[in-house]
Amino acid sequence: PPLSRILSLSDMENVATQILSHRAYAYYASAADDEISSMENARAFTRFFFQARVMRPVATCDPSTTILGFKSAIPIFVSGAALAKLGHPNGEINITKGAFNEGIIQMVSSNASLSPTAIMQASDQTQPLFFQLYKHRDDDIAERRVREIETLGYKAIFLTVDAIVAGNRERDIRSPWVLDEQDNGPVYYQPESVGTKTIEVNIFGTAGALIANDDRDMTWEKTIPWLRRISRLPIVIKGIQCVQDAILAAEAGVDGILISNHGGRQLDYSLPPMETLYALRRQRPEVFDQLEVYIDGGVRRGTDVVKAVCLGARAVGLGRPFLYAQSAYGEAGVSKLVQILRREIVTAMQLVGASSVNDLLPEMIQRVDWQTP
Ligand code: FNR
Repeated sequence: PPLSRILSLSDMENVATQILSHRAYAYYASAADDEISSMENARAFTRFFFQARVMRPVATCDPSTTILGFKSAIPIFVSGAALAKLGHPNGEINITKGAFNEGIIQMVSSNASLSPTAIMQASDQTQPLFFQLYKHRDDDIAERRVREIETLGYKAIFLTVDAIVAGNRERDIRSPWVLDEQDNGPVYYQPESVGTKTIEVNIFGTAGALIANDDRDMTWEKTIPWLRRISRLPIVIKGIQCVQDAILAAEAGVDGILISNHGGRQLDYSLPPMETLYALRRQRPEVFDQLEVYIDGGVRRGTDVVKAVCLGARAVGLGRPFLYAQSAYGEAGVSKLVQILRREIVTAMQLVGASSVNDLLPEMIQRVDWQTP
């Protein structure tokens, strides 16, 4: 269908399911074990309702914010997700350009189909890009990587800590593929970012192959000071899943935390990020003053974004929706995705009685213990 017919993120996903190869879709959509966390990430938002305020002036409504000091047109960003070329020959660059067009920030995956250099070169000079880091188990190799991305001009490091081993993703494991041999049509993936070797998919699936050399012994005491020593970039910990670790992150002095369960792809039954955010707001509100808090996982509507911002999230990330949008419509699909969310966010803000993100407050949210279908 023409892009003008796409009204929602689920419309976009529907198109993607029709055009993606079986294997690409299995890799993008899959999640761990019975995919409970993946499903519940989205459903968790249905337990949070608005206590909307009326009779407030909202004719002008500005949904913009800053993330680590960088301007963002709406409180969302692209959560780094691997292998965009599986869905479209231009890969991650579709997202880079779409993000620039719409004024939002892309976090580039360590396992992108394109190298950090290629993505930076395709970007606009004025456009901030963040980098998602999978730390190699060899400190020297990891250090070279960090220095490389800092030199290239990436503006922040999102250190992923929830993927020290790969989750058990059966849909992905059942459709094995070799990274540079796609079975239908042209070879889209050039494995630049993972070296020139062909990665054989084993019982751990694609993710297991991609993160095979990552550090499984990271600690607060060792890894954060190491990263601070070799880089001046802001550090965000990606993959915080409980209040206790949010506190430890604040004590470690990092600049932000991304509350995330990796889109349900790692530990099944890891609590939905929206619930963890709610617990943090109730139990430790001071943490929100010590660092920036973000969430990702299951965000599919503007109201999801507005709910999270009410509870104190600076911004929310989306992973799969960007992969689907660029697969289905390339750069234009990415722009459209952001435009849809922008419209939904502004409408929700106006109806809840907010003319800027500063007007979005915890007391506007009520958690209920019943669940909509
Ligand atoms: C991911 N994610 C991810 N995270 C990360 O830190 N490094 C990575 O390389 C990847 N790769 C990746 C590939 C694919 C196909 C998906 C779907 C996800 C996780 C991602 O950053 C994010 O946490 C989730 O995608 C958020 O959930 P939603 O928005 O997809 O529901």
